Amino acid sequence: MKVTVVGAGAVGATCADNIARKELCSELVLLDIKEGVAEGKAIDMMQCATLLGFDTKIIGSTNDYTKTANSDVAVITSGLPRKPGMTREELIGINAGIVKGVAENILKYSPDAIIIIISNPMDTMTYLALQSTGLPKNRIIGMGGILDSSRFKYYLSTAIGCSPNDLQGFVVGGHGDTTMIPLTRLATYQGSPVSEYLDAEALKKVAADTMVGGATLTGLLGTSAWYAPGAAGAALVESIVRDEKKLFTCCVSVDGEYGQKDICIGVPVIIGRNGVEKILDFKLNEEEQAAFNKSADAVRNMNNVLATLSI
Ligand code: 2OP
Repeated sequence: MKVTVVGAGAVGATCADNIARKELCSELVLLDIKEGVAEGKAIDMMQCATLLGFDTKIIGSTNDYTKTANSDVAVITSGLPRKPGMTREELIGINAGIVKGVAENILKYSPDAIIIIISNPMDTMTYLALQSTGLPKNRIIGMGGILDSSRFKYYLSTAIGCSPNDLQGFVVGGHGDTTMIPLTRLATYQGSPVSEYLDAEALKKVAADTMVGGATLTGLLGTSAWYAPGAAGAALVESIVRDEKKLFTCCVSVDGEYGQKDICIGVPVIIGRNGVEKILDFKLNEEEQAAFNKSADAVRNMNNVLATLSI
């Protein structure tokens, strides 16, 4: 197996680090446009091999896509991260052209690759990648819901006082501070509804904290988070290369599921060797469906901005 991570910033490098530690592939390429950065980080990571006991070979490259040839999976993290006070959506003007160019370059040398998009605004970047490459929809996966769901379980675990690993919970909709929808009604603590442990007010706070989870970290760190986003990207790579068929929320192209079409948005999906293998179209209640429709409208409006950009 061969995996490429484009963008050797904090998110890309953390994603690559997780991939190597888990030995998800025999060859891992880390590529960046900044001279020497990907090479330096790749060598630094390779010097962990004997300390951590992994055999994945990591190769750094300054913008030389020939090195990425025949990748099975490519993770795109390129573009600017947000700064404190910025929304993910404000990055569209800069990141759209970058993501489009990277996707084209990847496919030039790896025509069969499955592409994971992490760059923001992620829902629109996923839509752009799908439209511009013309790939079948199973091969373009946006990483958002898996990260937001992980943050949701973190906030639930701190409110309940339990291990996040004993919780099940999903965040669907867009990957934006106001567009994501933590499904508190369906979240469980070892099979029993979390509402058995938290009252309505506490659940509301968990949902609100989850929605601004990324913004809270951007405020603390001065830039976008990287540990959980990088780990989330690697978890998707793992489910693909090991054909785990795990159920995650990912941003994918919907065609009638949840009443929406012509849009990429976060829904529960099975991720396996073929990328998106199935969308689970379960019934939301009226309030959740209304929130999902509102979220889809916001994502669609952001997608419409693409037409105004010269990319
Ligand atoms: C986040 O939420 C990077 O969008 C990502 O931290």
